[in-house]
Amino acid sequence: MLIRRPADIPPSEITPRALFDTRRDFLRRTGLGLAAGAALWHGLPRRADAADTLGALAASPFSTAEPQTEWDAATSYINFYEFGTSKDAPLRNAHRMQVRPWTVRVEGLVNKPREFDIDDLLRLAPLEERIYRLRCVEAWSMVIPWAGYPLAALLRAVEPQGSAKYVEFVTHYDPAIMTTRPVLDWPYTEGLRLDEALHPLTLLTFGMYGERLPNQNGAPVRVVIPWKYGFKSAKSIVTIRLTEQQPATAWNKSAPQEYGFYSNVNPEVSHPRWSQATERRIGELRRRPTLPFNGYAEQVAQLYTGMDLKKHY
Ligand code: MTE
Repeated sequence: MLIRRPADIPPSEITPRALFDTRRDFLRRTGLGLAAGAALWHGLPRRADAADTLGALAASPFSTAEPQTEWDAATSYINFYEFGTSKDAPLRNAHRMQVRPWTVRVEGLVNKPREFDIDDLLRLAPLEERIYRLRCVEAWSMVIPWAGYPLAALLRAVEPQGSAKYVEFVTHYDPAIMTTRPVLDWPYTEGLRLDEALHPLTLLTFGMYGERLPNQNGAPVRVVIPWKYGFKSAKSIVTIRLTEQQPATAWNKSAPQEYGFYSNVNPEVSHPRWSQATERRIGELRRRPTLPFNGYAEQVAQLYTGMDLKKHY
């Protein structure tokens, strides 16, 4: 985000060159797949461990049929600044986070505030697979099969009060295992307007590629809001708070002229330091045009009727 201007990213540079080359040699010798190699190399649990799968997932009409990003790229080219600001740091460091036991407190302007054990939260509604595009503010994008259910199911269960207008997400922060550098104002927080949070596209997310979320992708629970830049998708959530006032958000506090509250994907509003008109899909060489609302305009544009989206970027 603030730290590094995005460059074109050929697949060989999704991880640092030295690591990629070593790993590729290792894979050639062992005959393992790339994903297995990434996990083994970093001493992380392998994917497709039966205990880590999420069981049957309903298909969703909201899924895109576009080719999916490779697991290896989606789990290694990451922003999770609590674990370091380089793209590969979260893969190396996030295994330090204990994701069970874990609780999520839903509080604020609701009739039924409640602390959920993560496994109760996981079972609150049927899990769906949602294959979504995620467009990062740094002008790269991925297509990932997420697993979760609409955040609306959780919000309805706690009964928002009439005065609730926003939803704030507070994420896990443990200085013993995360950076103590003041890169952002920790804990990382994000927020949505209540109608955005209730929109059926907003996914409370527990898994990806049919498995539980890897730590670096925001285990054990995160949100995915596919029409907004990736930084709105808060990872490793511990508190969901309904408020009357618009909540402060980590990137907006850090650089308000660069990162607004809404952060809807908008090819017509440049980041002050680079254009948002095109993007590079991870794994592809060509640039492609960025679509308004990341291609979800038909579903969400009406949320912003009458708003000047250049002003409310
Ligand atoms: N959540 C926390 N807690 N900390 C972070 O640094 N980074 C955000 C978002 N959520 C971030 C976070 C950014 S900038 C992006 S692009 C997405 O996570 C990337 O995550 P993904 O590749 O797993 O989707």
